[in-house]
Amino acid sequence: MIYLDNAATSFPKPRCTVEAMARALEECGANPGRAGHALSLSAGRIVESCREKIAQMLGENDAARIAFTQNTTQALNTAIHGTLRRGDHAVTTLIEHNSVLRPLSELARAGFISLTIVPPEPDGLVSARALERAMTRKTRLVAVTHMSNVLGAAQDLAAIGRMCRRRGVLFLADCAQTAGHIPLKPREWGCHMLALPGHKGLLGPHGTGALWVAPGVEVGALMQGGTGSASESMLQPAMMPDKLESGTLNLPGIAGLAAGMAFALEHMDEACEGIQAMCDRLRGELLNIKGVTVYTPEGASLVTFNIEGMGSQEAAAALNDAGIAVRGGLHCAPGTHRWLGTLADGAVRVSPGIMNSMRDVDALARAVAQMVK
Ligand code: ALA
Repeated sequence: MIYLDNAATSFPKPRCTVEAMARALEECGANPGRAGHALSLSAGRIVESCREKIAQMLGENDAARIAFTQNTTQALNTAIHGTLRRGDHAVTTLIEHNSVLRPLSELARAGFISLTIVPPEPDGLVSARALERAMTRKTRLVAVTHMSNVLGAAQDLAAIGRMCRRRGVLFLADCAQTAGHIPLKPREWGCHMLALPGHKGLLGPHGTGALWVAPGVEVGALMQGGTGSASESMLQPAMMPDKLESGTLNLPGIAGLAAGMAFALEHMDEACEGIQAMCDRLRGELLNIKGVTVYTPEGASLVTFNIEGMGSQEAAAALNDAGIAVRGGLHCAPGTHRWLGTLADGAVRVSPGIMNSMRDVDALARAVAQMVK
């Protein structure tokens, strides 16, 4: 099978990810941060060393500003539910994933907040000016994706961050599609919170993610429970990261993430260049096939297209039969598909990763050419 669905999760993972997970389970699979015995302490060291690595990647000196989560969705929900108060206004964009659109829309439907959803410019990018125009006196939060999982182009987060800082509004960046592919600089960009997955570009396993919270920003916990700290109190501790990490952490996942992330960061430049080159080549090949509409621009990190007269799920199923894994449908991003005019049936998304080569995208282009015959 040729796997071209890395925007959903990266596959295959490097060997070091798999081995680190097995090692954590076999050699020190105790509960990290919950006891003073040697096995719990060594499990704790695995967790803290991964936390340090994430902090280093983000240019953060204080690793305690990073909380582990199950995925980007949990990190985004924590940021959204943990900062918004009754009566607040929030601003987001039409090209967000449902992990941002749904929590915000549910809060708005319940009458807890008001919400403005800003469309992108004709080039698919979000303008800081348009976000600013959407603000009111009550705006507390702006949430923006670094890269749409359908359009594949990176946003200028620094411009948005500057505007949010000037307006005194919290800025949450969703880096689900960019962590491990583009250097993340939340402090430089002026972000207040940044959510990332462990299992996509960082090459960790499923069930891993993290939320970075800038110093001085208070985020309430989505869940309360045991943290292994301040246990005499029935109230949730206020300190980071304990406040946001109730319950047993995903030790094998975090061990795998530390190893995968080291691999990903070592190869980031070549991976990024390679993915873009594969996408540009595939885009060119698809544009030469009659009846194919391509939605993504040159330079994007994925390619989204449709074949005339064929539903996107049908095309994805036919590609599966040809031994190629891609994702059809709406990609949990209904606003983006509405904007593209593909809400009724979605589109086929091809997302190469670090493990792919030109041969893989050429095989996909050949398969599509066969399908339109
Ligand atoms: N958010 C993931 C995707 O775009 C699952 O496929």
